[in-house]
Amino acid sequence: MSSTSEGGSRPIAIIGGTGPAGMGLALRWARAGEAIIIGSRDEQRAQSTAAAIKVKAGNLANVSGMENSAACEAADILMLTVPFEGQAGLLKQLKSAMEPGIILIDATVPLAASVGGRASRPLGVWQGSAAQQAAELVPKGVSVVAAFHNLSADLLSGDDPLDCDVVVCSDDPDAAQLTRELAAKIPGVRAVDGGKLENARIVEQITALLIGLNIRHKGHAGIRITGLPATAYR
Ligand SMILES: NC(=O)c1ccc[n+]([C@@H]2O[C@H](COP(=O)([O-])OP(=O)(O)OC[C@H]3O[C@@H](n4cnc5c(N)ncnc54)[C@H](OP(=O)(O)O)[C@@H]3O)[C@@H](O)[C@H]2O)c1
Repeated sequence: MSSTSEGGSRPIAIIGGTGPAGMGLALRWARAGEAIIIGSRDEQRAQSTAAAIKVKAGNLANVSGMENSAACEAADILMLTVPFEGQAGLLKQLKSAMEPGIILIDATVPLAASVGGRASRPLGVWQGSAAQQAAELVPKGVSVVAAFHNLSADLLSGDDPLDCDVVVCSDDPDAAQLTRELAAKIPGVRAVDGGKLENARIVEQITALLIGLNIRHKGHAGIRITGLPATAYR
């Protein structure tokens, strides 16, 4: 599989792309020249969101909107940006639309808010993390990568470079590499090789801490990993 949509390969489908996290990633990748499909449970909402992103990204941006399963079928890379309470049900529903060989990048953060608790508290997941739950639910041959949990959607939807690292975890080194390349297309972002998918449980929980810091200090917190050799960021 080629690394990204440059050079004629297929677009990135953002499943649940009508929310702040999906829209922010779509905007940044559209500006970087990637072809983006916004996925939604509602085709019209997907199309109107895609049109709004195009206005911000510029007329040359390649952004379209489709119902989630059609978006899955049209892409080799799926970016999942739905709340934890919708993740399992949606993945079960989309299973038949996922071809072996595709990559699913999961940004789902399991927060207690999903069960009526606080957004600043993580939720325990039987499999260890939301990403590991996703890996159990996708068809055989689909690679799951955990990434983008610690990026603020508010900052992604702006114009300034971000000041944040993206820790990428996966059991598939090629899928992880491709995801790190996508992360590095967002201005100000460095991608860090975070090792195996099981490490996603730690990365997901950091987001609960960041949300708590944002509430306490009224900001948009992110993380930087320092002290590693340059190879860790490629
Ligand atoms: N917001 C952030 O700053 C941020 C940062 C990092 C990671 N995250 C994580 O990224 C994910 C998305 O965040 P968000 O703030 O964009 O979330 P969101 O606005 O609550 O949801 C995103 C989209 O998911 C779809 N959706 C909602 N409930 C669903 C359900 N039960 N089943 C299927 N689809 C559903 C909706 O799209 P349609 O109604 O159009 O289908 C919605 O627009 C979350 O897991 C969050 O923890 C968020």
